[in-house]
Amino acid sequence: MSAKASRADKLQSTVIISNRFSERRSQDVAHSTEESSAEPLEAGSMVGRYLTLSRIGVGGMGVVYRAHDTKLNRTVALKVLPPRLCKFPEYLKRFRTEAQAQARLNSPYIVTLYELMAHPVGEILVLEYVEGETLENRLRHYGPLSLPEAVRIFEQTLRGVEHIHQMGVVHRDLKPSNIFITHDGQVKLMDFGIARLMDNHDSSQNDTMVGTLLYISPEQINGRETDCRSDVYTLGISLFEAVTGRLPFERRSDYALMHAHVQENPPSPKEFQRRLPPELEWVILKAIEKDPNRRFQSVAEFRTALLELGIVNRRQSAAGNALSEMRQSWSHHEKKAEHRIWGGIWTDLSLATTALLLVVTLGIFPTQKPSTENMMANTAHMKKVVRQKSVMVNTRQMSTMASNDRNTKTQAAKQSKDKFASLRDAWGG
Ligand SMILES: Nc1ncnc2c1ncn2[C@@H]1O[C@H](COP(=O)(O)OP(=O)(O)O)[C@@H](O)[C@H]1O
Ligand SMILES: [Mg+2]
Repeated sequence: MSAKASRADKLQSTVIISNRFSERRSQDVAHSTEESSAEPLEAGSMVGRYLTLSRIGVGGMGVVYRAHDTKLNRTVALKVLPPRLCKFPEYLKRFRTEAQAQARLNSPYIVTLYELMAHPVGEILVLEYVEGETLENRLRHYGPLSLPEAVRIFEQTLRGVEHIHQMGVVHRDLKPSNIFITHDGQVKLMDFGIARLMDNHDSSQNDTMVGTLLYISPEQINGRETDCRSDVYTLGISLFEAVTGRLPFERRSDYALMHAHVQENPPSPKEFQRRLPPELEWVILKAIEKDPNRRFQSVAEFRTALLELGIVNRRQSAAGNALSEMRQSWSHHEKKAEHRIWGGIWTDLSLATTALLLVVTLGIFPTQKPSTENMMANTAHMKKVVRQKSVMVNTRQMSTMASNDRNTKTQAAKQSKDKFASLRDAWGG
């Protein structure tokens, strides 16, 4: 993993820092010891009545598997806190709090918890299995969302978070990697690993800083009591990223990043996305005000402001009606990706053909006696262009492109050799 990638991964991961307990929930920490590299579950193994099928995710708190519930005949997700982490009371407590928080919730916008099991492989959350991808993945693969898409995804997210708050829970880690979008375009919120139960006045929670550094609210950094408005902040940062493809604060060190959240004015999202309506810019900047009293005071207020922009009409915004449009948008994305791949192949093939034609044409109608060096340089240049292009398309296309490239080169070399031979004959060279 490159240093740059590993820093990016660290910044995306959840941080928990307290007087007695300090850790960073991240893939590299979860897999930093030899012991941890052992899979808690193997595909094909039975865990109670669940048959493990495959691993679908790894996070700081454990590993997530797709599994089959042999009794109810349905697919589920198993989130496992491995025994090496169960040894730490603090991890165990958080995992159980995650379960308790999620158990309170019942909403189409939130992944449902079926049960919490104790098992020799570790503690296990059995969850509703959802198919699709995280908003983080979506942004990484397709870039910023269009405005109607952003409003529809965040409208559903805010509805889900409204329910979370109504049930006395603050999520504290709302970021694109915890916002899941199903193939039907339905938002499903997940990962209550650092959620706070508002009626739990456990003082050990107070001296703790939790969150993900790129999205964390100033009060989380300062270790102050968090409430619904902390979730407004992290969602504001996520919306900023979703429509611009950039984060308001990107800094070299963790300290500089935290300082920026607490002290520095965010840039306008318009700096990164010129066509953003000023009203949406206002909504984003209001959500990420430093002082919680200056933000939207509830996610309901945030959602109303988003809908009042009129980017999607209220009828469309109702999740059910939005589904068909989301489906269209998914297939549009898929088509775009397909076009990109085929476009890449055709461009590469035409480049290769041009290279071939150049060689052939130069061979047949030379304006001057062709130099072997020039021919070689041309082919090398074409090969370079083709190779660079195929790398940009994707790695699967690379082997096809490379073999096309090799064939073209061999053919061209063969033909140019023949042409030279016949020209030499004709010119008596
Ligand atoms: N219920 C689920 N259905 C499908 N995939 C899931 C489910 N829960 C988690 N995942 C996958 O596993 C990844 C990690 O899960 P998450 O709960 O966010 O764990 P962590 O606390 O380690 O971040 C998610 O990003 C998602 O891709
Ligand atoms: Mg997560």
